[in-house]
Amino acid sequence: MEFKVKEDIENMKKGGKILAQVFKELEKYIQEGISTYELSRKAEELIYKYRAKPAFKGYRGYPEVICVSINEEIVHGIPRKDRVLKNGDIVSIDIGLEYNGFYVDSAKTYSVGEVSPLVLKLIEVTESALWKGIEKARVGNYLSDISWAIQEYVEKNGFSIIRDFTGHGIGRNLHEPPSVPNFGSPGQGPILVEGLALAIEPMVSIGDYKVKILDDGWTAVTLDGSLSAHFEHTIIITKNGPEVLTQEG
Ligand code: MF3
Ligand code: CO
Repeated sequence: MEFKVKEDIENMKKGGKILAQVFKELEKYIQEGISTYELSRKAEELIYKYRAKPAFKGYRGYPEVICVSINEEIVHGIPRKDRVLKNGDIVSIDIGLEYNGFYVDSAKTYSVGEVSPLVLKLIEVTESALWKGIEKARVGNYLSDISWAIQEYVEKNGFSIIRDFTGHGIGRNLHEPPSVPNFGSPGQGPILVEGLALAIEPMVSIGDYKVKILDDGWTAVTLDGSLSAHFEHTIIITKNGPEVLTQEG
């Protein structure tokens, strides 16, 4: 595991602010009728506007700048010209960027037009689960205290936590040790220390947690076709608690 020093943290903070700004400006375009390809182009433009670089394109052969996952798609949906947002969809946007040699990674799920109260609850519970996990990212806690806080909250609310994908350490690489599972009993794994940067990213489905990968080799969907949401922040553990890098303010 890599531990960040002051200068690293400053770079990650700047990258995090840029990514929050990219999301803020991209949000206006998340509307019925736009293609996921157009969203990726807009994100690309914004990332370069702020002198950062897209992190996903070319990562293990991933072909696009962002991931856009609609409805039963959980993560890693590949933007396409013929994939157009429609009323009632939920869409998860996942963006990573590199700034001054350091990576940050964040995801959010949006509703398009009108969705049912249950779907709104899915989105809310997933976002709150992320914050439940972040709250446990404190010096002296165990890594799996984060995992358990997420799982417990999601299941208490009647949804399933996806198990096949995890959060991760992050810094000079997009993915660094440790993996950050979103389920598991507390009190396991490494003890958290100052300077550890993590991307925490719960993925939640209304139905079962089983997944399958589509023929494009990337898009992960729920096996039962149930809707899924995803939220992610990059955080750093400080002696005063978790500091969320990928948000405004
Ligand atoms: N946030 C995702 C992750 O950490 C995005 C990676 S997509 C990839 O796994 F294209 F870069 F692989
Ligand atoms: Co990630």
